[in-house]
Amino acid sequence: MAWPGNVAMEIEALVCSYVADLQRGEEEREVALLELSKAREKTPGIALLLWHSYGIMTILVDEITQNFPHIPRISQRRTRRMAAALCLLQCVASHPETKTVFVRSYIALLPMAILRTAEDGNQMEHVRLAALGVLGSMMKVADASVIRFLRETEIIPLCLQIMQNGTELAKSVAIFILHSYLSREEGLYYVCGTAERFYAVASALATMVETLVGVPSNRQLKLLISCYLRLCDHPQARGVFELCFPAPLMSDPTLDQVAPSILNNLGDTSKRQLQQIVSRLGF
Ligand code: TRP
Repeated sequence: MAWPGNVAMEIEALVCSYVADLQRGEEEREVALLELSKAREKTPGIALLLWHSYGIMTILVDEITQNFPHIPRISQRRTRRMAAALCLLQCVASHPETKTVFVRSYIALLPMAILRTAEDGNQMEHVRLAALGVLGSMMKVADASVIRFLRETEIIPLCLQIMQNGTELAKSVAIFILHSYLSREEGLYYVCGTAERFYAVASALATMVETLVGVPSNRQLKLLISCYLRLCDHPQARGVFELCFPAPLMSDPTLDQVAPSILNNLGDTSKRQLQQIVSRLGF
């Protein structure tokens, strides 16, 4: 529901004053960061304001890099600021008018660097999720520039790693990124372009199948099945799956050989997709 005009204007004025506060002293900046990250859902135009206001992107980047040396013994206060700055980057990454310039700026390498920091218990987890969120937001409209960015960087290998070792939420975002990448022709053909890349993806998916047999998750299963179905569009990938496909998903068209814990967690669309896979692979 849209906000009534006067309320919307008040929110906008407040957001503008917080954006200005980002440039002031330490204390104002901290309050402004937290308030802006809270206000971001109510003010979609915030992305434009952040991108076009002089010096703001540098401040957000600074906020993340300054805190880097404190990882892994980082205070809660610092992680909160880092997560807030990442949430704001997420807005810029997903807004239709800023997303292309955002991709071109290579600022997305920063969240990637955060995801590469060593595991250190829970205190960094929300920062890691916010970092993954920036990459996930970029994928919402995965145009050619985003796919090129993913091809050139190590984001996909990182996602494959998270799909195998991450927390439940992180795994869901990571497989969402992979799925968006595969959905584009360039992504699918890049993955299937060499045996190494294909096996890296196929083995991450297979590990996920094994884990999901024990601990099913609807969200992950849905994307997992969609990834398999999409890979079947590539002749060589299909050839490999005809010879070797994860046993818990392998079945006949009635699906009665699918692992029960998986089958019980599949929605109708996923069931249909699995039947399509079965028929395309000729089981
Ligand atoms: N650029 C790296 C490579 O070519 C990373 C990469 C991009 C990748 N897409 C991938 C690795 C898909 C595995 C699968 O290897």
